Amino acid sequence: MTRTLVTNIGQLVTNNERDRDPLGLIADAALVVDNERITWVGSAAAAEVSGGHDIEHVVDCGGRAVIPGFVDAHSHLIFAGDRANEFEARMTGTPYSAGGIRSTVTATRSASEDELITLLEHRVNEMLRQGTTTFETKSGYHLNVEGEPLACKIARRVTDEVTYLGAHVIPAEYGGRGHEETPVVGTREDYVELVCGAMLEASAPHARWIDVFCDDGSFTVAEARRILEAGMRAGLAPRLHAAQLAPDSAAIALGVELDCASIDHCTYLTDDDVALLASSSTVVTLLPGVEYSTRSPFPDARRLLDAGVTVAISTDCNPGSSYTSSMALCISLAVRDMGMTTAEALWSATAGGARALRRTDVGRLVVGARADFVELDAPNYVHLAYRPGVPLTRRVWKHGVAVAQTTG
Ligand code: NIG
Ligand code: FE
Repeated sequence: MTRTLVTNIGQLVTNNERDRDPLGLIADAALVVDNERITWVGSAAAAEVSGGHDIEHVVDCGGRAVIPGFVDAHSHLIFAGDRANEFEARMTGTPYSAGGIRSTVTATRSASEDELITLLEHRVNEMLRQGTTTFETKSGYHLNVEGEPLACKIARRVTDEVTYLGAHVIPAEYGGRGHEETPVVGTREDYVELVCGAMLEASAPHARWIDVFCDDGSFTVAEARRILEAGMRAGLAPRLHAAQLAPDSAAIALGVELDCASIDHCTYLTDDDVALLASSSTVVTLLPGVEYSTRSPFPDARRLLDAGVTVAISTDCNPGSSYTSSMALCISLAVRDMGMTTAEALWSATAGGARALRRTDVGRLVVGARADFVELDAPNYVHLAYRPGVPLTRRVWKHGVAVAQTTG
């Protein structure tokens, strides 16, 4: 590994919090990378004067902005097929429902392991090219004892942040929607038993997290408690999908009680939910791609921030409710439609994502952090929201290595 000086950075976002500046901005900056880690951060002029870094390689950013790599704390990348037809129908008025998940389950179950790996690697590269250097991803489109552990195992090839989501929906063969055309092998109760038993046991060695989709048309709060507690006994840490389709104070209370690292979606919250979340160490992960793609009202991020809740922004990349891998698009939407400043949205998409994964080594460009960063084709970070849909990722470094060059 060579010791690299990255210099002539017009604006460096460090997320090293200072008074009134959570982004820890440094103008005309430089940083030094050694062995996958950041070993020095400061002004370009100081880097030149101080020397002493034994630099073997210099990268000139030409006055452009550099930001921490995005931390996408919520995605569902292991699936086959797509649901473009559902998206088209939604755009002309058909509402989103959790039921569509089952068509992806059918396509995913019939794909081979190799096909799923190829699809996954393609999606991971797509994310990396857009500046995402850390991401979480979930199982949840097999919903059987063979497939869920396989999905976790495949996911573990590409990330440490693997979530077991056997509790995505009740599959048709256990009486879930679509059971009219499928031979039924057991009850809903039997499926919950399986999720907490054999399926969990086989998935847990490959996973760090357990999650439940607790909402209308999926799992109840009582089922979610049972499943999350079983996962915790098996050594997994809890996170929760809640309040996406309807308010559910009991689900929010459960997430906080179990100290979930994050409760995700939270599109519908009461004032009491917001106060409870603000008093907890649970992050709220907002997923603006979902509201965009399901034509739903956006959550009010301003209300959460003003109450003191820690907010992350993620893509929720999945074939149903949000088929985008673009963290920049999510930042644009958060600024345009959720009441966040661009600075807040960028923090939430980097340091906030790291908090939602309880990670301290990513999401910040400080001494000791992992050298995961993005050079933007822009003089400052505001362009991320100001230029929606424009590919602004010029170069991406992961673990100190330049892994993608997309523009210029
Ligand atoms: O996070 N909410 C549950 N699961 C996904 C949707 C999955 C799908 O529609 O395929 C989500 O939005
Ligand atoms: Fe999700």
